[in-house]
Amino acid sequence: MNPRRSASEAHEKIPTLIFDSSASAAASLAREVKELIEAKNREGKAAVLGLATGSTPVPFYRELIRLHREEGLSFANVSSFNLDEYFGLGPDHPESYYRFMCDQLFDHIDIPKANIHLPSGTVASDQVFEHCRQYEEMIDAAGGVDLQILGIGRTGHIGFNEPGSSRESLTRRITLDRITRQDAAADFRGEENVPRFAITMGVGTILRAKKIALMAWGENKAGVVARAVEGEVTDAVSASFLQEHPQSRYLIDQGASRELTRVKLPWLVGPVRWSPQETRRAVCWLSNSLKRPVLKLTDEDYNEHGLSDLLSEQGPAYQLNIRIFNQLQHTLSGWPGGKPNADDTFRPERANPYPKRALVLSPEPQDATVSMGSTLDRLREQGHEVKLVSMTSGSLRVSDAEADKFASILLELGITAPASWKEQTEYAQRILSLLESKGAFGEDPLELRKLKALVLRGELRDSAQALGLPQDRITFMDLPFYEKGRYRRFKLEAEDTAHIVQLLREFQPHQIYITGDAADPSSVSALCFRALKEALKEAPSDGPCSVWLYRGKEKALEPWEIDMAMPISPMQLELKARALTRYTSLTSMELEATKTNQGTAQAYDSLGLANYEAIESFQRWQS
Ligand code: GLP
Repeated sequence: MNPRRSASEAHEKIPTLIFDSSASAAASLAREVKELIEAKNREGKAAVLGLATGSTPVPFYRELIRLHREEGLSFANVSSFNLDEYFGLGPDHPESYYRFMCDQLFDHIDIPKANIHLPSGTVASDQVFEHCRQYEEMIDAAGGVDLQILGIGRTGHIGFNEPGSSRESLTRRITLDRITRQDAAADFRGEENVPRFAITMGVGTILRAKKIALMAWGENKAGVVARAVEGEVTDAVSASFLQEHPQSRYLIDQGASRELTRVKLPWLVGPVRWSPQETRRAVCWLSNSLKRPVLKLTDEDYNEHGLSDLLSEQGPAYQLNIRIFNQLQHTLSGWPGGKPNADDTFRPERANPYPKRALVLSPEPQDATVSMGSTLDRLREQGHEVKLVSMTSGSLRVSDAEADKFASILLELGITAPASWKEQTEYAQRILSLLESKGAFGEDPLELRKLKALVLRGELRDSAQALGLPQDRITFMDLPFYEKGRYRRFKLEAEDTAHIVQLLREFQPHQIYITGDAADPSSVSALCFRALKEALKEAPSDGPCSVWLYRGKEKALEPWEIDMAMPISPMQLELKARALTRYTSLTSMELEATKTNQGTAQAYDSLGLANYEAIESFQRWQS
């Protein structure tokens, strides 16, 4: 399947299909699988599928299940070979890939258990070599993989073929890369719990498949997708080896396409319709690449760097520069809730009403502090009615050590007055024994999960206090989808939206802050945003209500994407850093939040705007 390529795709070395959403990409691939199975059935043969784990294929598996249930697609004549398995995890371990595949696909379709193959995570160390050899043999004996499904890790790995895996590599045991283990940290509640090894099909094994389809969603994958699709074939990005396979292709959504030349620098590969945003992006890009402030760009600069079209349409440079400079300038505002009694023609937020009811939605408890702690502080200080809502409990992020700490203190307190602390002591003992019996990797029983949620509540209260936000401004929503699910496989339901509808009706916000859906569509922040969008349809606000998107764990907004830039002084930045120290469960990326804010300020400075210490940034959501 090699779709005809247009000139704009000239930089791409693998056919790459960009879809509107992961759902539509997944539906198209699922339909292809249906056709494959039916064609094989007609030949009286079994279809052999190579399957992958991770959040990426989840919408694809849901669609296969739907085709099975609603369109009668049978998997009775299908064999499957999974790419990989964590070494050291048995099939019943909640994070084993075997369990993942059963939960996400196998238990919901009619594939015979005997046709399912995954490498074993519990094979004895001295048997690994033989086990891997047999896995290869089994694939060949089945006639080879007809269609291999892949996701891509942030290191560019396919399966678990970490950087350095050769083109010829076969199924083997591999040591996991640090970034891969960081990315799996939330699944295992802490990086230290992530297995160090895995058994994976090799690059050579994967390339033997007759067809290959690699899926990738969200901005976090955009950089590595661009390297794999447009860069050299290199063992530093094992997904780049797909360039050498004649029947391979990438299926990606808008977010994952963002670093491709045709999306990022479209003027280099063809004519462009110069929308205001595209214009702003081109000017910022030019300024960035020439390391020259916007106001110093010349006609020649535009002409010599592929922007002659833009110049002839909107030039001369002097006028274009001033216009874009002013636009950027107008994004800067220390009044996130709007400046009362001021002309707001060029301000990001309207002046009236004042004060505003500002609803700050934090998908997981720490998100808002990490990404907009200083803005929260500013809104409160400027007299707005701030409501900070933690949408999910975040309990899955809290380590066993935190629960252990709490239970141990309680137990010790009990010793001081054994009679009156009887129940509390029993509770503490129960928690400690739950921790011991479930082990480092086990699923948390409900009682433990509740305690972990309370630990995080305490941390959020502490950090809000550091920002001067009173306790009564904080609401804990505990959306059910989170309580019922696990990372990478959450499923939003109507009841989640219902909770938000109620909140909107009660609070009637004038402005809402929330993370958008730029990252993985299965992430907690993307699901919370989707629930808000549904809720806004059901409960539209009476008057105008602006929705401001902030970036959470994802890449920070680029200056050309920013609609409101909130400058932060050195003292305010210190305050935010202090508020962040109240959380024990921040990822390394979240701990860098203040550096990210400084990076945005530097980007504004380089464009020739004021030189601030740091900036928190927001994008206006256009529904
Ligand atoms: C793991 C899996 C890969 C998967 C990758 C990305 O490393 N072994 O097969 O592609 O994670 O995961 P996700 O799809 O959750 O981003």
